[in-house]
Parts: sequence; C-alpha cells; structure tokens
Amino acid sequence: MTRTNGKKTISVIGLGVVGLTTAVGFALKGHKVIGIDIDPEKVRKINEGTCPIFEEGLSCALKEVNLIATADHRQALDTDITFLCGGTPPKADGSIDLFFLEEPAKQLRAVLKEKIGDHLVVVRSTVVPGTTEKVIVPVLNHNEHVGICVNPEFLREGTAVEDFMKPSRIVIGEKENKWGDMLADVYKDYNAPIMRTDFSTAEMIKQASNAYLATRVSFINEIGNICKSMGMDVYEVAKGMGLDARIGKDYLNAGIGFGGFCLPKDLSALISSAKDANYRAGILEEVQRLNINQPVRMLTLLKKHIPVLKGATIGILGLAFKADTDDIRKSKAIEIIHALQEEGAKVTAYDPQAMPNFRKVFPDSVKYATADEVLNADAVMILTEWDEFNNLDYRGKIVIDGRRVLKAREARIYEGICW
Ligand code: UGA
Repeated sequence: MTRTNGKKTISVIGLGVVGLTTAVGFALKGHKVIGIDIDPEKVRKINEGTCPIFEEGLSCALKEVNLIATADHRQALDTDITFLCGGTPPKADGSIDLFFLEEPAKQLRAVLKEKIGDHLVVVRSTVVPGTTEKVIVPVLNHNEHVGICVNPEFLREGTAVEDFMKPSRIVIGEKENKWGDMLADVYKDYNAPIMRTDFSTAEMIKQASNAYLATRVSFINEIGNICKSMGMDVYEVAKGMGLDARIGKDYLNAGIGFGGFCLPKDLSALISSAKDANYRAGILEEVQRLNINQPVRMLTLLKKHIPVLKGATIGILGLAFKADTDDIRKSKAIEIIHALQEEGAKVTAYDPQAMPNFRKVFPDSVKYATADEVLNADAVMILTEWDEFNNLDYRGKIVIDGRRVLKAREARIYEGICW
C-alpha cells in the first residue's frame, strides 16, 4: 500500500537488533512500518515504546516513531515490502541454522496467497551465498506479483541506528529489475552508494566483509603477539600502519579476539560453505584458530604472576563481547572464566550492562560485584573496553589487560595481552 507521499508501507519480520533497527530506521525515514515477532513479550514492550534490547540510539528512536508491533504474520498483507530479519545461528558443524528465516518465509507464503497486487520480500538476514536461490525462492514459490531481493545489513551492535541512517553502502541482490527498482526506491534518500547485483554476490559481499573484519582482528592480534615477544607496542605499530590510506586504522585494535553473534559464526559458515564447494579456506581457518587461542594468552600471563590459581580470587572487568552492548554471545569472558574455574580459581565479576545476561550462563559460580569490589581480587583481568574502566584506581593491583585500558597501566604489575 504505497502512501501518498511516495513512501512505502513496510513490514519487518524478526525484531532482534537487525530487525528492530531496520523497522525503526525506516519509520524514522517516514515509512509506515509494522514489526512482526513471535515473542509476545517483545511485541508488548515495543508497543509500550520500551526497547527490548540494550542498544544505544534504539531506545530513543523507538520513542520518536510510531512503530506498530504484532505477533500476527497476516499483518504483512497490508504492506508493500517485507524484510526477513530472522537470526541465523550456528549449528554444531559450523554451518548456519536457517529455521528463523525459513519458517517466517513459509508463513509469509501462506499470507501472500491472499495478496492483491505486488509484494516484495527482502532477505536481510546474513546467509551463505546461494541460500536465497536454493532455500527462500522455493519456499516462497512466488508468482509475478511476488518479488524477492537480498539486502544485507552492515549494522554494528552499539551503533546500529547510526549505521542504518548513514550506511557505508546499500547492496541490493536482485533477479529482475522491477524488484530491484522497488527496493532502490526505498533507499533513494540515503546518502550512500547503491550497488545492484545478483542474489549470491549480495550474500557473499556480507560474508566476505565480516570475514575480512575478522581477518584484520586476527592479523593484528598475531602482530601483537609477535610484538609482545619482541618487547614492542602493537598499538604504536597499528597507528603507523593505519596512516597508510590503503590500510586504514579501523579493526586494528589488538586484544583478546573477536566475539559476538556475527563475526565468529559468519566466519565458520563461510569456511563450511567453502568446504561444501570443495575449497579449503586456509586463511580463514587460521583466522579462526588464532581467535580461539588468543584468550589462552590471558591465562598464561596471569600464571606468570600467580602460578597456582587454585584458591585465588580473580576479578573480571567486562563480560560483554565488546563495549556499549549487553550482549555476551561468544564473549571471550565465557571461555576465560570457564578456564579459570577449571584451575580452581574463584571469580568475581563486574560489567556495567551485561551482568543480567551473564547470570543466565553462570548463575552461581561467579560472584557479581561492583568494579571496586572486583579490584580487591588477587589479580584483575580486563575483558571489555568500557570507558568507565579508565576511571578506576588500579594502583597496587595485578592487572592483565586484554583491551588496552590506558589507566590500568598504573597497576603494580601490568601485563597487556599483546603489548
Ligand atoms: C559485526 C560487523 O562489524 C557489522 O558490520 C555486521 O553488520 C555485524 O557484525 C553483523 O553481521 O550483523 P558486531 O558483531 O556488532 O558487528 O561487532 P564488531 O563491532 O564488528 O566487533 C566484533 C568483535 O571484534 C568484538 O568482539 C570486538 O571487540 C572485536 N574487535 C573489533 C577487536 O578485537 N578489535 C578491533 O579492532 C575491532
């Protein structure tokens, strides 16, 4: 139902970080948007104007817009375009689980049988190349009135709304111009290059982008590990490298490795789909191996100063996979705390946002405390780069820093993971 101001009516299925940001972002741009999610609690919160996720900018933006949320997929019928934003979590073998993409697509197919007029379905979830063609096209079983496009997102948690409003690029995967034109029209007032290509290339652009970011992080971690053994500061080295316009300065912060819901799983998925295509992605396998080994260095450095961890209390500053989020998925804090506990250490932890989520994984075996209480431990590990950790008093402490918190250098004993 195109509105008289030329704006489209949009439905977004799957209201996680990506879906909710997409819904709110399009609403901020003046489109009428309906958000659809099977979680009734999430729907209720959104309709009350409460953001169900901790995400900078999203809570404020949600209050500014008139976003209607519902659990009823039939509401998509009254819209022109549906964005499929379901999560694609990893399976045990490294490939991705398409349930949250396929299932809504099936529901949509049933709903669209009643549709009079054109409807565009957009795959926004991150998938491996070939997924839309092999899985979504057959599920939707579309006719000439139902189109399909691929439109990957490049949103970072913590800055998702800003990334949506000021995208670096808009990638549209299409088979027929008509549908690509319809999607390009939605993005016409964004100040970003629009690249139009086929389905698989659009899917690969997203996968390759995340794999490249992961590669940069593992690369600088490797350089950092070398620098540490040679007595150099990798941050100085990265600064010098970043001044080269061909290299750039982003994603060169060495530390405990990359976590979160996206980079680790997308890397595994790409390695796994390359294998299916009879190609061994050697560089990517090594990026992954380095990322798995990097947190082990934190334990090794700690044991230099406290050789026997049994009975020692280790304080953890930071549980989220990065700053400005409460997300702990694939956070390096999980594996580091498991390793400490296996050695018999007691763990006290603080994070400004992520403690409620962390409690779900470690309900009893971790003592949750204030930052000052954490500093009373026998040694402290810094695992997330929250700004506020620069305001603490580290004097007299043993600190193993995985995130380069400058103030922590005043500690009695200070070890950076790779500096
Ligand atoms: C990532 C990508 O950056 C987004 O472009 C993409 O849209 C998103 O995944 C997705 O696929 O949905 P995000 O998961 O929010 O976004 O995380 P990043 O900000 O990229 O950070 C990932 C991890 O790398 C974090 O653990 C972070 O601490 C680590 N990192 C990042 C470093 O260790 N060093 C750096 O220099 C940069």
